[in-house]
Amino acid sequence: MNGDLQDSRLKAFRLVRWLSWGLVAAVSAAFLLNGGYSYFTSLPKQTRALAPASIGGPFQLTDTDGRRFTERDLAGKASVIFFGFTNCPDVCPTTLIDIGRWLAAIEGDADKLNVLFITVDPKRDTPQHMKEYLSSFDPRIRGLTGTAGEIAAVAKAYGVFYKEMPLKGGGYTMDHSSAVYLMDPDGRFVEPVSSQTNDETAIKRLRSLAKL
Ligand code: NI
Repeated sequence: MNGDLQDSRLKAFRLVRWLSWGLVAAVSAAFLLNGGYSYFTSLPKQTRALAPASIGGPFQLTDTDGRRFTERDLAGKASVIFFGFTNCPDVCPTTLIDIGRWLAAIEGDADKLNVLFITVDPKRDTPQHMKEYLSSFDPRIRGLTGTAGEIAAVAKAYGVFYKEMPLKGGGYTMDHSSAVYLMDPDGRFVEPVSSQTNDETAIKRLRSLAKL
């Protein structure tokens, strides 16, 4: 009887040990996969539908001083590109603050990056309005707007989703995807970040982007 008891204790011990190792393995895998996991979840499905090589491309926009701005103005530097709108109550200001914090963290490397905030609400986001709005954020973030057609074209090139949503009391807000696109100096898509990316990962990605 004593032997059976020992045997079942041994079995229980082995089961617990096996479960612990399973837990350790699962936690480690989740940790290691976190980068890959956020890679997919931070991209809108419109972007995921595009082959990574086809994300981005030529565009015609206007900067906050009213000057024309195209993809040629990005040449020679890697780019951090975020699409949003100045009336956004939460995700856009949060993401712009995040970007400012990441730029501060990579110090001098930030000068090797173009950092763009492209509006998806060109009706309200005039160059002047964007300039005033962006004065509350890191000065390295440049604002771009354009005609409805120009914004639609650049959004399509990057696989950005946006849609005007009427508000109950009148007016409207914009529903939009909120990935931040990291593009290499040749304008090729590298990887995304978003306000859901933890600082350590985002800073690492921006630092390696600046070295491309
Ligand atoms: Ni927003």
